[in-house]
Amino acid sequence: MRKNIVAGNWKMNTTLQEGVKLAEEVNAAVNAADAKCDVIICVPFTHLAPINGVISGKLGLGAENCADHKSGAYTGEVSAPMVASTGAKYVILGHSERRQYYGENAEILRAKVALALENGLTPIFCIGEVLSEREAGKHFDVVKSQIEDGLFNLSAEDFSKLILAYEPVWAIGTGKTATADQAEEIHAFIRSVIAGKYGQEVADNTSILYGGSCKPTNAAELFAKPDVDGGLIGGASLKCADFMGIVNAF
Ligand code: PGA
Repeated sequence: MRKNIVAGNWKMNTTLQEGVKLAEEVNAAVNAADAKCDVIICVPFTHLAPINGVISGKLGLGAENCADHKSGAYTGEVSAPMVASTGAKYVILGHSERRQYYGENAEILRAKVALALENGLTPIFCIGEVLSEREAGKHFDVVKSQIEDGLFNLSAEDFSKLILAYEPVWAIGTGKTATADQAEEIHAFIRSVIAGKYGQEVADNTSILYGGSCKPTNAAELFAKPDVDGGLIGGASLKCADFMGIVNAF
């Protein structure tokens, strides 16, 4: 069956020293807690190898992105093999900030997903509509297209390796969370889209996380919904106590 997962997305925050300190704190807390879910922190590229050296046991490590090429003349890029060589096991792909500010489209994301999988990384693949799309009632279509265009080239075997994250863009960093009912409605829809392509078993085994202003105060209500399998946490992952409050919501 699918796993419950809480993953932190640190985004472009913390210096290396601050990041290592936070990772040490989270590592101690996660390993001391009787967590009912898998816990992952996704951190800036510069932090991956040093943080891999200070975490252990139940805490997993991921990157926030990887390149759409394997190697070569792509100044400033960081490849999936490089990420894997740090010891990281996960990579966030298709985050709305990457789509919006760095022009990542479905073609680029298909290449990234393929390289991540080839290198043994588990993609945490993000989808979600912007406010105008929700207001126009187009959120189901938008999310469906993002899944079809970004992922439906995969075999069922490869698709089964993914984690999905539904993140309504209007809820990210805004303090405006989707209600638990709104989240459940679209998570159930996402699962039905997956079932339509890969069958009910694959759909039932796919972890679908909610992201967007998830906090210790609203996590339990969101995670109680049958199709919400955890959270992708931005702002609240930067404070150990807040992050653990979300982890312990399970
Ligand atoms: P937020 O970000 O929790 O700060 O809203 C979530 C995300 O973008 O992954």
